[in-house]
Amino acid sequence: MITNRTFTMIKPDAVENGHIGAILEKITSAGFKIVAMKYTQLSRRDAKEFYAIHKERPFFDELVNFMTRGPIVSAILEKDNAVEDFRALIGATNPAEAAEGTIRKLFAKDIGENAIHGSDSDENASIEGAFHFSGREVY
Ligand code: PPS
Repeated sequence: MITNRTFTMIKPDAVENGHIGAILEKITSAGFKIVAMKYTQLSRRDAKEFYAIHKERPFFDELVNFMTRGPIVSAILEKDNAVEDFRALIGATNPAEAAEGTIRKLFAKDIGENAIHGSDSDENASIEGAFHFSGREVY
């Protein structure tokens, strides 16, 4: 398993609000290299599978509706200590609790529409990256 990579999605709210460029600038300025990227839209089936671990949680339907309502940007990012450093860069899940200067503090509205996803472990980074990209799409 490659452990210096993480997986991200710029979520539909951030895309709708025109923040793709600003968010990518924050990511690359923080030293992350983009090794795969696509502009795409999740089907309901994709979203349910991607977030299957949360299927018993009360917000699951809301999460699936939100993540499928418009296009996203998905990407695999490379950097030493990628998973942890990227979670620090994006900030807390709830933007009200996110540190100043983090992507969620700058661009997210609330816990339901929080602008960006970042993998929470090396194992999940690998699984999530493989869910979105074939080997030929990763450089
Ligand atoms: S985390 O970051 O995985 O530790 O956060 P967690 O609280 O486990 O949340 C998992 C994903 O569910 C989203 N979420 C919500 N969506 C809608 N409504 C509510 N209340 C809510 N709470 C959490 C949260 O944004 C996480 O999505 P990802 O894409 O993993 O960031």
